[in-house]
Amino acid sequence: MQKKRLLFFIVCVVLCIQFSAVSAQNGDVVGTARYTDIVAYVNNRPIASYNVNGYTVIVAEELVHYGFLVEWNESDRSLWIVRNPEAETIEGMSGVCSYGQHDGLKYADILETDIRTYVNGNQVTGFNIGGQTMIYLNSLTCVGVVKWNAEDRAAELVLGGISMIEKPPVYEGEIPYEVDPYRPMVALTFDDGPFPYTTERILDTLQYYNSRATFYVVGSNVRAYPEIAKRLGEQNMQIGSHTFNHIKLTEASDGVIAEEIIATDQATREVIGVGTSTMRPPYWVSNERVRRVAGLPVVTWSVDTLDWQNKNADVIFDTVVNNVRDGDIVLMHDTMNCTADAVARMVPALIDAGFQLVTVEEMAAARGWTLEPGVLYSKIY
Ligand code: NI
Repeated sequence: MQKKRLLFFIVCVVLCIQFSAVSAQNGDVVGTARYTDIVAYVNNRPIASYNVNGYTVIVAEELVHYGFLVEWNESDRSLWIVRNPEAETIEGMSGVCSYGQHDGLKYADILETDIRTYVNGNQVTGFNIGGQTMIYLNSLTCVGVVKWNAEDRAAELVLGGISMIEKPPVYEGEIPYEVDPYRPMVALTFDDGPFPYTTERILDTLQYYNSRATFYVVGSNVRAYPEIAKRLGEQNMQIGSHTFNHIKLTEASDGVIAEEIIATDQATREVIGVGTSTMRPPYWVSNERVRRVAGLPVVTWSVDTLDWQNKNADVIFDTVVNNVRDGDIVLMHDTMNCTADAVARMVPALIDAGFQLVTVEEMAAARGWTLEPGVLYSKIY
């Protein structure tokens, strides 16, 4: 009996060790690396980079092209990085985008790693991203000077003893925007604008994080603030109809409903260059007659911030960040400072949580949904 127990114990231990070894190899997801518009340089030669926890990370193995020796030690699964004393110039790598993004990926999983990484013999934090070991650029401060160049939005490593090259021109074209249908996404929506200052602040945040949202505009505001309305189009936001005069459609005649929808569509076509392809009725009231006459898909929401009522950026932020799930549609108003305040914090928080911020139509398309006229949609799942 004792022997059997001992045998059972040994078998358990062996199984546990094997299981943990297997799970480490599979690599559990422990975080998200995300797109960065920050360019990283070594002596002005661009090097591919990601953003992890707000810091620039680079591929350790690629440092062999940037004046380093990188050696893999199989016996204890460690990676050793030291300055290459023979390096006279920095060759760099071709094909590194000068806006810092690696291979056009917007997000990448950070996987658990059992590899230990050393710089000059000191252990540094290493990440497994796509099977490559990445380290913070800051981990190289013991071998060179790492500085932040605010003007170029660049993280720069300067190695002494190796000449600087002339910095290549910074990429100024459009940063690619792609929706990955296999990653979580959420559609932020804003009613009642466009409106001076508050809509612009929200657009600033969305622009900074290369993200999109849907704006249910009031036609008369599009006419009143054409410059702000134009910016919605320039940043590829989706435009929806919130009627021309913000009226209660259930109390309007068929003729007035049609007029309100057509006038708003005309305004956005003329000012922004795109029509309204979905609608959200003011005061959130509609019925079958309204939906039939309006002839557009009706988009409501699955997360209500109640921003118009609480007027509190912390409450708005918490409501979204604590409740949102893949496929949700979030209701806000781009006419209030508290909402703009909340959005400035919410957008990076949602991206860090792994969400892509997309338009309602992009989310529907990514999930294979066709939005039908007269049908009500509160979420895409
Ligand atoms: Ni409204």
